[in-house]
Amino acid sequence: MTVTRVGVLVSGRGSNLAALLDDAALPDAPYKVVAVISNRAGAAGLVCACEAGVAAYAVERADFANRAARQAEMARLLRAHGVELVVTAGFDQILGPAFVDAYPERILNIHPSLLPAFAGTLHAQEEALAYGVKVSGCTAHLVTAEVDAGPIVAQAVVPVRDDDTAATLSARILAEEHRLLPHAVRLLATGQVRVEGRKAVIIASPPHPPAPSP
Ligand code: GRF
Repeated sequence: MTVTRVGVLVSGRGSNLAALLDDAALPDAPYKVVAVISNRAGAAGLVCACEAGVAAYAVERADFANRAARQAEMARLLRAHGVELVVTAGFDQILGPAFVDAYPERILNIHPSLLPAFAGTLHAQEEALAYGVKVSGCTAHLVTAEVDAGPIVAQAVVPVRDDDTAATLSARILAEEHRLLPHAVRLLATGQVRVEGRKAVIIASPPHPPAPSP
C-alpha cells in the first residue's frame, strides 16, 4: 500500500491533529503524519506531535518580514519532509497564493460549520447559534485562494439544541470533526477525490493503475 506523507498546520489545542495521529497509527491507514508546523511556539499541537515522534516546527510571525516569507519557510519545511498532502487543522492564518499554488488541490481544511454557511470566521459556532440555525456541523474542504470556498470533500451534520451554548455546540461539532477529518484525508490519500470545477467528486474505489501494454 502506498502511504501518503501528510503535513499538518495547527495554531492551538491540536485535537484534530491528535485524531489524525490516532487514525494514522491504524494498520490500514493510507497516510502518515510526517511534519507538524504551528504559527505559535506554545501551541499544544506541537507537544502532541513531539509525543508522537513527529517532526514539529514553530514558524512565528515575529521571525519573518511578512506572510509570504513565513509561508515560504513553511512550504520549504514541508517539502524537506516530502509532504504530499497538507492539512490545516485549527490553523488560524490565511494561506497566501504562493503556498496554495505549491500544493494544488492538496491542502485540506476542517471548518466548524456547514459551508458555505458561516465561512471566513473564527467564530462559526457562535455565529450559527446567534443566527438560530437548527442544524450545524463541519466541512472538510480543499483550500483555494478564496477563504473557506474550495471544493467540499465531506460534511457532517449535528443538531443545534435550544439550550446550546457556544461550548456545547462546539463540543458536538468537534466530535464529528475528529471522525470526518481522518475520513477525508483517507479519501485524498487513496486518490478517491477528483476535482471537477468547484466540486470534489468522490470515486467509490481508487483508480486502478493502467494495464501494462502488451
Ligand atoms: C476546530 O473546531 C476547527 O474546525 C477550527 O478550529 C478548531 C481547532 O481545534 N478550524 P483543534 O486545535 O483541532 O482542537
